[in-house]
Amino acid sequence: MIKIDQINTIAVCGAGTMGAGIAQVAAMAGYRTVLFDLQQVVLDNSKQQIIRQLETAVAKGKLAVDQQTVILERIQFTNDVKDCVAELIIEAIVEKITVKTGLFNELAAINSHETIFATNTSSLAVSAIAAGILHPERVAGMHFFNPAPVMKLVEIVQGIQTSLQVVELLYALSLKLGKTPVNVKDTPGFIVNRVARHYYLEAMKVAEDGVADYKATDRLLESAGFRMGPFALMDLIGNDVNLAVTQSLYDSFDKAPRFTPNRLQIERVQQGALGKKSGKGFYNYG
Ligand SMILES: NC(=O)c1ccc[n+]([C@@H]2O[C@H](COP(=O)([O-])OP(=O)(O)OC[C@H]3O[C@@H](n4cnc5c(N)ncnc54)[C@H](O)[C@@H]3O)[C@@H](O)[C@H]2O)c1
Repeated sequence: MIKIDQINTIAVCGAGTMGAGIAQVAAMAGYRTVLFDLQQVVLDNSKQQIIRQLETAVAKGKLAVDQQTVILERIQFTNDVKDCVAELIIEAIVEKITVKTGLFNELAAINSHETIFATNTSSLAVSAIAAGILHPERVAGMHFFNPAPVMKLVEIVQGIQTSLQVVELLYALSLKLGKTPVNVKDTPGFIVNRVARHYYLEAMKVAEDGVADYKATDRLLESAGFRMGPFALMDLIGNDVNLAVTQSLYDSFDKAPRFTPNRLQIERVQQGALGKKSGKGFYNYG
């Protein structure tokens, strides 16, 4: 079993909303980082986003100016899956189990059998992902929150087959990344997404019932102490990702009415109004 000080390279798969942030966190903690995505345009955007974030950190005096280049040079941006050779692989790709297991299997074939596979899934069963992978004891959940460079919490998920050593290693590694890890059970949505589901779903019900519009609801919730209102937060998460998570919880809880996906969410995804990343969601972004 690999030891924490043997981890030199972290490969992050998927350079979208979460992957770019996770790669930034890994590089800032000193790890050689490979950031992989199928889409070159996503990779280019992720690089620009990381550059902007590092510049802001320098401007705020939180990062030495010479560190900016050092951190950026630690990240290899690639659209070639064969570059993902690492001691730890963190996937942050589309929320579909067959795609995630497909990628893990492809990577298992080119990596050591000791390489650890962590999934950033928000709602899929880690045990189900692990079941499809050779040496499933090295597969675990490492659920970061959005935006990954800012949010401290990481849910560490132990699947049925996941070895305790892997869980302990990911816990210790999260601390090295400057995060606050919490061990959670492999239940649908873990803790945060299960509870937060109702923040989104009830807000959409309020809008559907004509009780209050998006802006008013967001303003009220923010005034009540929530960092972001539900509609602004859904746009930040991505309506496609958020809908996939709702659907996954709905299916996992035997179609419990409390997790029923909302029409407003479904319509936005059908229209391509995915939120901030597509320029339009519940709000418009310039
Ligand atoms: N958005 C959030 O707030 C959030 C928070 C925590 C966890 N998550 C989870 O993180 C994962 C990614 O979510 P996201 O919001 O970053 O999605 P996203 O849509 O922003 O990015 C996903 C990226 O994965 C890429 N991709 C798809 N299939 C791929 C493959 N086979 N190989 C390589 N790249 C591939 C896509 O090109 C895309 O750029 C999901 O499992 C989601 O549930 C999301």
